[in-house]
Amino acid sequence: MNYYIGIDLGTSSCKGILTDPSGAIIREYSEDYNVSYPVPGWSEQDPADWLKAAKTILKKLGSGLENDVRGVAIAGQMHGLVMLDGDDNVIRPAILWNDGRSDAETAYLNSLPDLTEMTGNIAFAGFTAPKILWVKKNEPGNFARARKICLPKDYVAYKLTGVFSTEPSDAAGMLLMDVKKRCWSERMCALCGITSAMLPEIYESWEVTGRLDPSLGFPNAFMCAGAGDNAAAAVGTGTISEGDCSISLGTSGTVFLPVSGAENLPGGDNSSGGETASGGETASVSTAGNSGGVLHLFAHASGGLHLMGCILSAASCNKWWTKEILETGYDLFSDEKAGENRVWFLPYLTGERCPHNDVNARGAFIGLSADTTKDDMSLAVFEGVAYALRDCIEAGGVSVRKAVLSGGGAGSEMWRRILAGVLGADLYMSETAQGPSFGAAILAMTGMGEYASVAEAAGRIVKKKLVTACEPALREKYDRGYGIYRQLYPALRDIFARMNGR
Ligand code: XUL
Repeated sequence: MNYYIGIDLGTSSCKGILTDPSGAIIREYSEDYNVSYPVPGWSEQDPADWLKAAKTILKKLGSGLENDVRGVAIAGQMHGLVMLDGDDNVIRPAILWNDGRSDAETAYLNSLPDLTEMTGNIAFAGFTAPKILWVKKNEPGNFARARKICLPKDYVAYKLTGVFSTEPSDAAGMLLMDVKKRCWSERMCALCGITSAMLPEIYESWEVTGRLDPSLGFPNAFMCAGAGDNAAAAVGTGTISEGDCSISLGTSGTVFLPVSGAENLPGGDNSSGGETASGGETASVSTAGNSGGVLHLFAHASGGLHLMGCILSAASCNKWWTKEILETGYDLFSDEKAGENRVWFLPYLTGERCPHNDVNARGAFIGLSADTTKDDMSLAVFEGVAYALRDCIEAGGVSVRKAVLSGGGAGSEMWRRILAGVLGADLYMSETAQGPSFGAAILAMTGMGEYASVAEAAGRIVKKKLVTACEPALREKYDRGYGIYRQLYPALRDIFARMNGR
């Protein structure tokens, strides 16, 4: 029997699964690691921790089956900056996707008239290019030593194979890739003071990049290029064609919408869009409504493109509130007041990416009164994250009526009920809950020829079921609640900036 390993290199942990070619999960294992916040608004990790976790996972998953493991692929937290010197030593801790230090560099990149033409996107502080500029300006010694620049999962894959590779779904989030041509933009590299020779070679996500290093003990295993965690989760939830939508409730929250065709690229004819493919009312997608670049336009791991809205704090808000503040777990409170809560929560604990692009934004409870209960505040946290996801959908000018959920937060029945009401969408889940690692395993199976394409593999393997239907009465109530929510950030924006000394 052939086996495949999918690894999800997340922010709080690295998770791995071993599957057979039908996608049945035979084993799973995960290892936690730390994030450090050396300065408020900064967020860093030691790449050595990722590598150690990935090696342990490979060992645990493959134990006794070393000869039968045929393919491995990694799904990775996106945008992180890893810099290596001429001897492949890590120069400084990796700067992560939710790090807000590169505000000034982001503003500079957004002042370039042809940024969107070059990259398909506007700049956000979490992206890799502004971080490179930050290191260039603030740590010139480190910058001068850099010989290779890569993303988190590509660093791990490099160490496991000796092959310096990436793939378009993650590379797009560096803001150094020409999304249209799926190749590095020489001009963007030059603007950041680097050359494309310092960046990994771009393969497609399912393509084989090399063999695993013999020291790892998997003589017949090949590495496939993998994907950014959101694109991998989309594969793992069968979100491949225009009209599909997946929502992930991990540390971050994302709304992922595949789009088809060159007409969706900057400079193309953006007039198409509309209801689509997979039957019935799902997601209505057009890049026309996204003219300000509020949603990211990235490459999909299936070979196509997708739009994505990302909020920086999703399940991390609940983790912060329930574990750090209340010291309890999820779902320990009542949702009786769902839709009638008089408390609102802004989930901007680490600033916000979409749609506000504001590193100064911060979390807030609004509407507290003498009779506010702990339950009201807990409910407000769930609702605030749901409203923030709706903000992305509204600002991107898209409409979502069905979505497949993944990520740790998807397991909460109460949160799903709230999300369905706030979005006005029916929510589905894949029978396999491990979105990104499952997607990575599907990429590895495709690369090794078990399936002809990612779309075919996902179509045959992923089984979705309706988990939460939208309740029309709740939807109506939440439409009113969202009306108030969307006025809160504009009212507080200047105050957030002043609080951060701007
Ligand atoms: C997406 C993003 C996050 C990370 C989390 O743009 O920044 O979803 O990939 O791992």
